[in-house]
Amino acid sequence: MVNPPIAMLAELTHRCPLACPYCSNPTELIGKDAELTTDQWADVFRQAADMGVLQLHLSGGEPAARTDLIDLVIAAREAGLYTNLITSGIGLTPKRLEALDAAGLDHIQLSLQGVTAQIADRIGGYKGGYDRKMHVAEHIARIGFPLTLNAVMHRENLDDLEATLDMALRLGARRIEVACVQFQGWALENRAALQPSLEQVNAAKGTVAEAIERLRGQLVIDFVPPDYYSDFPKACMNGWGSTGLNVTPDGTVLPCHAAETIPHLEFANVTRQPLKEIWYGSDAFNAYRGTDWLPDLCQSCERVEIDFGGCRCQAMAVLGDASATDPVCRKSPGRAALDAMLVQDTNPLDVPEFVYRRL
Ligand code: FES
Repeated sequence: MVNPPIAMLAELTHRCPLACPYCSNPTELIGKDAELTTDQWADVFRQAADMGVLQLHLSGGEPAARTDLIDLVIAAREAGLYTNLITSGIGLTPKRLEALDAAGLDHIQLSLQGVTAQIADRIGGYKGGYDRKMHVAEHIARIGFPLTLNAVMHRENLDDLEATLDMALRLGARRIEVACVQFQGWALENRAALQPSLEQVNAAKGTVAEAIERLRGQLVIDFVPPDYYSDFPKACMNGWGSTGLNVTPDGTVLPCHAAETIPHLEFANVTRQPLKEIWYGSDAFNAYRGTDWLPDLCQSCERVEIDFGGCRCQAMAVLGDASATDPVCRKSPGRAALDAMLVQDTNPLDVPEFVYRRL
């Protein structure tokens, strides 16, 4: 039995003033001309709500690059959706934030590239970005939006973890997502420049464990460890086609943000087919749903209902086979390939330059 989705990620645009090398967007980005219009997005939101979606994550690129962002939030709220804006803050002015508040925006997730202007502007590839973000953060706090800070951690900033947690407190965040970079999209291109060392990872785990106790009741800390160092894979998307879906700027509907890297899958577009039909009936959504399709290794594993064999896109990226067990799994025959990558990527004498995200 297929349940309706709970959450939808709407990638309103791929345009973004920042150029973060860890961006999870695809390396082939969609241009402005192909983006859905305001009315088309409003229709997608209504369809999503009608089929059971509760939470809408407005993302990008930078969603504030859409001049109709306020209208989109109004449309989403009219559809009855809980709205979360995932933003770098660049492009949000005090006036726009007030309008978003009046439109009923429920929550903001603000990305943090680094704890100083020097680091943040280098990672984001945008001079002055840090100062602008801090200004926006002040107004987010003044208006009283519930705020989550979203800090993507990697080789260049994992040692600043304590300062990152301090910043979350200073900015009045209720929650921080300390997410070690996941290697999809641009991040995969930059894997060797971003992969943290084992020493960094162990230190970060200690810092997080201590901070969770110390800040209990003050700040919720969600830690996503770097999965190449894990023994078992993450339950990517909570299982393919089980709870969430992504819609790209041109209306392509995906089971996850990197699904287009799986070459044999074809994806439907919400401008040509109803969202409900795509969710329940499309080949792409049914390709890796449930657990019946999993290899014997996963079928016979006690963790099968915990991680569902891991991430399809990671199996594709590392092993060239989207139906294989995620190579992060210690039991996977592909684990040796992942370990070899890890050794190569963490050679301190061979750290490549960033390839910045560009449209
Ligand atoms: Fe596609 Fe994990 S990112 S299944």
